[in-house]
Amino acid sequence: MTLEHVKLIQLPKILDERGNLSFFESNNQIPFPIRRTYWIYDVPGGEARGGHAYHSLQEFIVALSGSFDVILNDGKEEKRFTLNRSYFGLYVPKMIWRHMESFSTNSLALIVADQPYNETDYIRDFEQFKQLH
Ligand code: TYD
Repeated sequence: MTLEHVKLIQLPKILDERGNLSFFESNNQIPFPIRRTYWIYDVPGGEARGGHAYHSLQEFIVALSGSFDVILNDGKEEKRFTLNRSYFGLYVPKMIWRHMESFSTNSLALIVADQPYNETDYIRDFEQFKQLH
Protein backbone atom coordinates (compact mmCIF):
# COMPACT_ATOMS: atom_id res chain seq x y z
CA MET A 1 0.00 0.00 0.00
CA THR A 2 1.03 3.61 -0.50
CA LEU A 3 0.05 6.91 1.08
CA GLU A 4 -2.59 7.23 -1.64
CA HIS A 5 -4.56 4.48 0.09
CA VAL A 6 -4.61 6.40 3.39
CA LYS A 7 -7.86 8.26 4.03
CA LEU A 8 -8.87 10.98 6.43
CA ILE A 9 -12.54 10.18 6.96
CA GLN A 10 -15.11 12.67 8.23
CA LEU A 11 -17.62 10.94 10.48
CA PRO A 12 -21.28 11.78 10.96
CA LYS A 13 -21.90 14.45 13.58
CA ILE A 14 -25.39 14.65 15.05
CA LEU A 15 -25.72 18.16 16.39
CA ASP A 16 -27.95 18.54 19.42
CA GLU A 17 -28.27 21.23 22.07
CA ARG A 18 -27.76 18.37 24.57
CA GLY A 19 -24.33 17.71 23.03
CA ASN A 20 -22.97 16.19 19.85
CA LEU A 21 -22.86 12.53 18.82
CA SER A 22 -20.62 10.82 16.27
CA PHE A 23 -20.25 7.19 15.31
CA PHE A 24 -18.80 4.71 12.86
CA GLU A 25 -19.79 1.20 11.85
CA SER A 26 -17.94 -1.75 10.36
CA ASN A 27 -17.90 -1.72 6.55
CA ASN A 28 -19.83 1.52 6.50
CA GLN A 29 -18.01 4.71 7.52
CA ILE A 30 -14.85 2.62 7.82
CA PRO A 31 -13.87 0.15 5.10
CA PHE A 32 -13.30 -3.01 7.17
CA PRO A 33 -14.93 -5.17 9.86
CA ILE A 34 -13.94 -4.25 13.43
CA ARG A 35 -12.35 -7.12 15.36
CA ARG A 36 -10.50 -5.19 18.08
CA THR A 37 -10.63 -1.83 19.84
CA TYR A 38 -7.86 -0.32 21.94
CA TRP A 39 -6.98 3.12 23.17
CA ILE A 40 -3.87 5.07 24.11
CA TYR A 41 -4.04 7.55 26.96
CA ASP A 42 -1.96 9.14 29.74
CA VAL A 43 0.92 9.60 27.29
CA PRO A 44 3.66 11.60 29.04
CA GLY A 45 4.71 14.83 27.28
CA GLY A 46 7.24 14.24 24.51
CA GLU A 47 6.61 10.48 24.21
CA ALA A 48 5.95 8.73 20.89
CA ARG A 49 3.91 5.58 20.20
CA GLY A 50 3.92 3.22 17.28
CA GLY A 51 7.06 2.97 15.22
CA HIS A 52 5.94 -0.07 13.24
CA ALA A 53 3.87 -1.34 10.33
CA TYR A 54 1.61 -4.37 9.95
CA HIS A 55 1.89 -7.09 7.34
CA SER A 56 -1.89 -7.38 6.99
CA LEU A 57 -3.72 -5.36 9.66
CA GLN A 58 -5.79 -2.27 8.87
CA GLU A 59 -6.60 0.38 11.47
CA PHE A 60 -8.73 3.45 11.98
CA ILE A 61 -7.49 6.09 14.44
CA VAL A 62 -9.62 8.78 16.08
CA ALA A 63 -8.58 11.51 18.52
CA LEU A 64 -11.58 11.17 20.84
CA SER A 65 -10.11 13.90 23.01
CA GLY A 66 -7.21 16.33 22.67
CA SER A 67 -4.81 16.08 19.75
CA PHE A 68 -1.81 14.19 18.44
CA ASP A 69 0.05 13.68 15.17
CA VAL A 70 0.15 10.47 13.15
CA ILE A 71 3.16 10.27 10.85
CA LEU A 72 2.81 7.78 8.01
CA ASN A 73 5.47 6.47 5.66
CA ASP A 74 5.02 4.11 2.71
CA GLY A 75 8.75 3.54 2.24
CA LYS A 76 9.01 6.40 -0.24
CA GLU A 77 7.13 9.35 1.19
CA GLU A 78 6.14 10.58 4.61
CA LYS A 79 3.00 12.46 5.60
CA ARG A 80 1.89 13.96 8.90
CA PHE A 81 -1.75 14.09 9.96
CA THR A 82 -2.80 16.14 12.97
CA LEU A 83 -5.90 14.61 14.56
CA ASN A 84 -7.75 17.02 16.81
CA ARG A 85 -11.47 16.52 16.14
CA SER A 86 -13.49 13.55 17.40
CA TYR A 87 -15.51 13.42 14.15
CA PHE A 88 -12.47 12.78 11.92
CA GLY A 89 -10.52 9.55 11.76
CA LEU A 90 -7.53 8.28 9.85
CA TYR A 91 -7.76 5.03 7.90
CA VAL A 92 -4.36 3.33 7.76
CA PRO A 93 -4.12 0.30 5.46
CA LYS A 94 -1.66 -2.56 5.85
CA MET A 95 2.07 -2.07 5.10
CA ILE A 96 2.23 1.61 6.10
CA TRP A 97 4.84 2.56 8.68
CA ARG A 98 3.41 4.77 11.38
CA HIS A 99 4.22 6.51 14.57
CA MET A 100 2.29 8.91 16.78
CA GLU A 101 3.67 11.91 18.66
CA SER A 102 2.88 15.38 20.03
CA PHE A 103 0.13 14.08 22.31
CA SER A 104 -1.63 16.91 24.10
CA THR A 105 -2.33 16.62 27.82
CA ASN A 106 -5.30 14.30 28.44
CA SER A 107 -5.48 13.23 24.80
CA LEU A 108 -7.22 9.97 24.04
CA ALA A 109 -6.50 7.96 20.89
CA LEU A 110 -9.13 5.38 19.95
CA ILE A 111 -7.99 2.72 17.48
CA VAL A 112 -10.06 0.00 15.85
CA ALA A 113 -8.48 -2.81 13.87
CA ASP A 114 -9.69 -5.59 11.61
CA GLN A 115 -7.77 -8.33 13.45
CA PRO A 116 -7.05 -9.48 16.99
CA TYR A 117 -3.66 -8.59 18.48
CA ASN A 118 -0.93 -10.68 16.84
CA GLU A 119 2.72 -9.79 17.38
CA THR A 120 3.80 -11.77 14.30
CA ASP A 121 1.89 -9.30 12.10
CA TYR A 122 4.12 -6.43 13.27
CA ILE A 123 7.11 -5.12 11.32
CA ARG A 124 9.19 -3.26 13.87
CA ASP A 125 12.35 -2.69 11.80
CA PHE A 126 12.15 0.18 9.32
CA GLU A 127 14.88 -1.21 7.06
CA GLN A 128 13.05 -4.53 6.86
CA PHE A 129 9.82 -2.62 6.13
CA LYS A 130 11.46 -0.78 3.21
CA GLN A 131 12.80 -4.04 1.78
CA LEU A 132 9.35 -5.62 1.89
CA HIS A 133 7.93 -2.79 -0.23
P1 TYD B 1 2.30 -1.63 20.57
O1 TYD B 1 1.38 -2.01 19.49
O2 TYD B 1 3.76 -1.81 20.35
O3 TYD B 1 2.02 -0.14 21.03
P2 TYD B 1 2.16 1.23 20.21
O4 TYD B 1 2.00 0.91 18.77
O5 TYD B 1 1.08 2.09 20.71
O6 TYD B 1 3.47 1.83 20.55
O7 TYD B 1 1.86 -2.43 21.87
C1 TYD B 1 2.43 -2.19 23.15
C2 TYD B 1 2.25 -3.43 23.99
O8 TYD B 1 0.87 -3.71 24.21
C3 TYD B 1 2.85 -4.68 23.36
O9 TYD B 1 3.50 -5.42 24.40
C4 TYD B 1 1.67 -5.47 22.88
C5 TYD B 1 0.54 -5.04 23.78
N1 TYD B 1 -0.75 -4.98 23.06
C6 TYD B 1 -1.71 -5.95 23.31
O10 TYD B 1 -1.51 -6.88 24.12
N2 TYD B 1 -2.91 -5.86 22.66
C7 TYD B 1 -3.18 -4.88 21.77
O11 TYD B 1 -4.30 -4.83 21.19
C8 TYD B 1 -2.16 -3.89 21.49
C9 TYD B 1 -2.37 -2.79 20.49
C10 TYD B 1 -0.98 -3.99 22.16
